[in-house]
Formats: sequence, structure tokens, C-alpha cells
Amino acid sequence: MPSTLPDGDPVPSSGSLPGSALEGLGERPFGFYVHVPFCVTRCGYCDFNTYTASELGPGASQKDYAETAADEVRRARANLGDVDLPVQTVFFGGGTPTLLPAADLVRILAVIEEEFGLAPGAEVTTEANPESVDRAYLEELRGGGFTRMSFGMQSASEHVLRVLERRHTPGRPARAVQEAREAGFRHVNLDLIYSTPGESDDDWRASLAAAIEAGPDHVSAYSLIVEDGTRLAARIRRGELPMPDDDVAADRYLIADAMLAEAGFEWYEVSNWAASEAGRCRHNLLYWTGGDWWGVGPGAHSHVGGTRWWNVKHPAAYAGRLASGVSPAHAREVLTAEDRAVERLMLELRLAQGFPLKEIERPPVVARALADGLLEVEPFKTGRAVLTLRGRLLADALVRDLT
Ligand SMILES: C[S@@+](CC[C@H](N)C(=O)[O-])C[C@H]1O[C@@H](n2cnc3c(N)ncnc32)[C@H](O)[C@@H]1O
Ligand code: SF4
Repeated sequence: MPSTLPDGDPVPSSGSLPGSALEGLGERPFGFYVHVPFCVTRCGYCDFNTYTASELGPGASQKDYAETAADEVRRARANLGDVDLPVQTVFFGGGTPTLLPAADLVRILAVIEEEFGLAPGAEVTTEANPESVDRAYLEELRGGGFTRMSFGMQSASEHVLRVLERRHTPGRPARAVQEAREAGFRHVNLDLIYSTPGESDDDWRASLAAAIEAGPDHVSAYSLIVEDGTRLAARIRRGELPMPDDDVAADRYLIADAMLAEAGFEWYEVSNWAASEAGRCRHNLLYWTGGDWWGVGPGAHSHVGGTRWWNVKHPAAYAGRLASGVSPAHAREVLTAEDRAVERLMLELRLAQGFPLKEIERPPVVARALADGLLEVEPFKTGRAVLTLRGRLLADALVRDLT
């Protein structure tokens, strides 16, 4: 979730949704995202809506956060009406959700369950910084209904972690995975970042090898984005660090895909690989396939039936709105049919399942992409256009040309 909020249409103080959003509610998968906006320190590259204790200021406290978030869950129930809406996926993200006591995360999940009910086999994930948990903490989460852990590993190279300003040691993520397994988690993800300034191909290979060796059933690998306003961007501007290079990033992607495939991981989205179908992140798939989700927390974005809204950004403003019985939504937009079609193409074309060829409206661009080997027509999924490996490298540009 980027830290800047777009403008949009006003939201009534009750938070009530337009009738169009509520049509068909319950027929699409429904999930919750819970944003936890606290970190011990801010990593030099990160632009997410998160606050360290010294940045937070008065009016919001970590201690009260679980009850504030639970209030928003109750408002969600009131705004969505009493339609049967079992929750298929819950994703706690941050910030560092695991900076809160495990009991607080379990409490928020329990309120979601009380208000909506969880669908059988619901996926419940939390992100965690590897150094922020131990075996007892993980057991408490598992006992409280969490089913999946997602650890921010980023790299196994000490000098890369230093450039990123991460707090954990290179060996800590693997031990966190092991502790999660011992606590009973079947599903564990490791997030990796490539093309950090100073990282070599061999550093990246060693990071992938360490991640695979740790035994997760899911790996996400994203190229480092240099976000304006971060310490990393300032260091690059001052010439202290080189700007990540696109060609280097492309090579690193190819290394990642080859090593992960060799280890039995299959890509199912351009930046995401899973060891089996059960290992895929159903919450992210819900985002990428047009599902409904309610985003709880400061700056959190939601989408229900073609209406998108986003909450006020600062934790104090967020808590203040809820304490006075007002919706924390800052603004919203109702997507047109055309917006939705474009969005669908942008998200679904990045999936290994591809996109129905006949629904793509720019035949000359498709013809060129097929001729250039960026797209292929998947023989077993008749009529779906799927990115080739080369297409995955150029996915952003191709999607831009197609929309
Ligand atoms: C925002 S963090 C939240 C979870 C947790 N605090 C952590 O750091 O793992 C989620 C993921 O986004 C990644 N991320 C944040 N800023 C990024 C950037 N500028 N480029 C690439 N990945 C980024 C993080 O490294 C992390 O793996
Ligand atoms: S710990 Fe995660 S959310 Fe916090 S600053 Fe670092 S990358 Fe961002």
C-alpha cells in the first residue's frame, strides 16, 4: 500500500455504500485486509504507510490498535448489511503486524469471525519480520486460527540487508520458517527483493538457495523499487549508491525463475511462485481476480462490487474517526465498466492462467506480442493468452500497450 492517497469522491459519514456495490454481494469471494501501521524502525527503501514510535505522535497508540481495528470490522458489518458473507481469506499486513502482541491479532481475527464467520478452510495470513516472532508467538497465532505466515526475508546477504536497512541477521528467516513449521503452519512464504545496489548475481543466487533451503511453500520476489522520499532514493541521488539497473533486474528475474522451478516451485503470478496449488496465496488471488475485500486500518484500500475506497492515512486521524462514530473512509470511486475491464486485464494477464484471447480488444498489439514471443496461446486452456518467460520480463510494458 503506497503512502500517498489519491483524491476521489466524498464518502458519507455513515460509510454507506452505493447500491451498485452491494449487488451480488456474497456471490464473489470476500476477504479482509488488516493493516497494522507500526514498525520498530523504517527500512531505507520503504514507502508504506507505517510509523515508528517516534513518528507516531499523540492520538494513536499501538496498545489500543486491536480495539480500534475491531470497531472498523463492526462498521463493515453494518455497512454491508446482514447478507451471508463468510470470509474466505484474511491478510494482516503492514507495517509489522507482529509488533502487536499475538493476542491482539487473534482478537481482531475473532471479531471478524464473530461478525461474518469464516468460510471452511479460510486462509488467514500475517506478514511478519523474521526477528519479530518466536516459537511461542507463532504457536499463539496458530492456536488462534492463523494458517499462513509470510516472512520478509529480502536477502541472505549481510551487505544487502545493510543497504536495505533491515534489522534481521542473514540466518534468522530460515529459523523463523522452522519455528513456524514447528508451531503447525503448513503454509509459509518468504518475500525476497532483488537488484538492490551492491547485490551481485552470486549474492542473489545465494539468497534464493537459502530461501529454498529454508523450506517455504511460497516465494515472492520483487525487484527493488526506489520510492521518492525514502532514504534509499536520497542516497542514490547523492551518488552514494547506484540506481538499480533494469537489465540487471531482468537477469535476476531469470535466475529466480530457473532456480525456483528447479526446486519445484511454479510461477502462478509474475512475482509469485508456489510449491503446490495449495501453497498459492488465495488472498492475493482474490485481489487479482476481482473479488471483494474490506481493508481495515489507516490508509487501507477496499473494493466491493466495483466501488473502491481508501481510509484516512494517519493512525491518529483513523482512531479519531472511529471513536466519534464516523467512517474512516477518506474518499472513494465507483469504477465504470471500462475501468473494470482494464483493471481485469492488467491483473489477470499477470497470472499463469492467462486471459481469454478473444476478450482482448487490441488485436494488432496481441498479434505483435504473439509474434515477438511475449504471449502464447496456452494449448490446454483453449483460447487463453499466457505470458511467456520473456513476456513476464516485459509484462508491465505489454499490459500498458494492451490497455
Ligand atoms: C511493506 S512490507 C510489510 C511486511 C514486513 N514489515 C516486512 O518488511 O516484511 C511487505 C513487503 O513489501 C516489500 N517492499 C516494501 N517496499 C518495497 C520496495 N520499495 N521495493 C520492493 N519491495 C518493497 C517489503 O520488503 C516486504 O517484503
Ligand atoms: S519492516 Fe516492512 S513495513 Fe516496516 S519499514 Fe521495513 S519494509 Fe516497511
